[in-house]
Amino acid sequence: MKKIGIAVTDPEDWTGVALCDSVTHSGMQPVKFSFSNATSDIPSGKIYAGKLELTSLDAIIVRDMGPAAQNGAALRFEILCRLRDSGVAVINSPEAIARAANKYVSSCLFQKNGIPTPRTVVTGDVEAAFQALSSFGRAVVKPVFGYKGIGVECVKYDAGGESKLRMLLEKNGMLYMQEFIRNPGRDIRVFVVDGEVKGSIYRIAPAGSWINNLSQGGRAQVCALTREQEKIALKAAKVTGTVYAGVDIIEGNRDYVLEINGTPSGKGIFEACGVDVTAGIVEYVFNLV
Ligand SMILES: Nc1ncnc2c1ncn2[C@@H]1O[C@H](COP(=O)(O)OP(=O)(O)O)[C@@H](O)[C@H]1O
Ligand SMILES: [Mg+2]
Repeated sequence: MKKIGIAVTDPEDWTGVALCDSVTHSGMQPVKFSFSNATSDIPSGKIYAGKLELTSLDAIIVRDMGPAAQNGAALRFEILCRLRDSGVAVINSPEAIARAANKYVSSCLFQKNGIPTPRTVVTGDVEAAFQALSSFGRAVVKPVFGYKGIGVECVKYDAGGESKLRMLLEKNGMLYMQEFIRNPGRDIRVFVVDGEVKGSIYRIAPAGSWINNLSQGGRAQVCALTREQEKIALKAAKVTGTVYAGVDIIEGNRDYVLEINGTPSGKGIFEACGVDVTAGIVEYVFNLV
C-alpha cells in the first residue's frame, strides 16, 4: 500500500485531518508528521521525523512546514529538497512553496507574467520607501514571509508616515510595500487544485478592520468568480508552480492578485461552499505515485 506523509504541525488542523481522510478513501495509507522534529542523517542519507522514516514514504503532502524563524525555515526547506531528491514525491514542490511563501518572489512572477497585481516596492532605504509612499498615497506594509494577515500594516502619506516607515523597517529588516487598493470591504480567496478552481469565497473583514483573513476575524461567504478572476487565479498558480494554492484577489478598479499561498487551509472553502479541496489534492497524488 502506498504510504503518504502529511506534514502538519497541529494534529487537529482541519486540512490535515481532511487530507488524511482523503488519502484513506483513495486506498492509500496516511501518516501525519511534523517538520518540527525532522532529522536528516547525512551519512546514511535517511531523513526522519521522530521514528518515522520520511525517505521511505511514496509521497509527502505539505500542509505546513511548522513555525520557525529564519534558520529553522531555511533548514526545513533544504530537508524538503533532499526528500524530493531521494525520490519522495513532494506536493507542493519545495520550489513552489518557497516562491509562494516569499511575497517578493511571487510579486515579481506576477509582474513578469502579466498578472495584475498592486504596485509593489521592496526596499531597505527609508527615502525610497517614502517616495513610494508619496506615490501610493496609502501603502500596505507586509512581512515578506508573512501569513494569516499577521504584521500587515497600513501607512498613510501624512505627517506620521515617515516615522512609521522607519519603525516598520527596523521591525521587518526590509520593507515590502504595496499600493493600498480601495475595495468593497472584502477580498476573494480562490482555491486552485491542478489547474482547476475548486472553490472561492469572499472574506469580509470584521467591522472597523480592513484585513480580511479568516484568522483575523473575517467572515466567509460563497463567491461566484468572474471569468477574469478565474483566469488570473489559475495563472498565479501556474507561474508559481503550485499544484494546489490559495490565491488572494482584491476588487479595486480592476481585479488584482494580492498574493498566493502554497500551503493554504481548506477549512473556509469547506464551511462556506461544502467543497472538500483535499479530495482533488489526493487524487493528484494518487495519479503521481
Ligand atoms: N494592497 C492591498 N490593498 C488593500 N488591502 C490589502 C492589500 N494587501 C493586503 N490587504 C489586506 O490584508 C490581508 C492580508 O494580506 P496578504 O497579502 O494576503 O498577506 P497574508 O499572507 O498575511 O495573508 C488581505 O487579505 C487583504 O484583506
Ligand atoms: Mg493572504
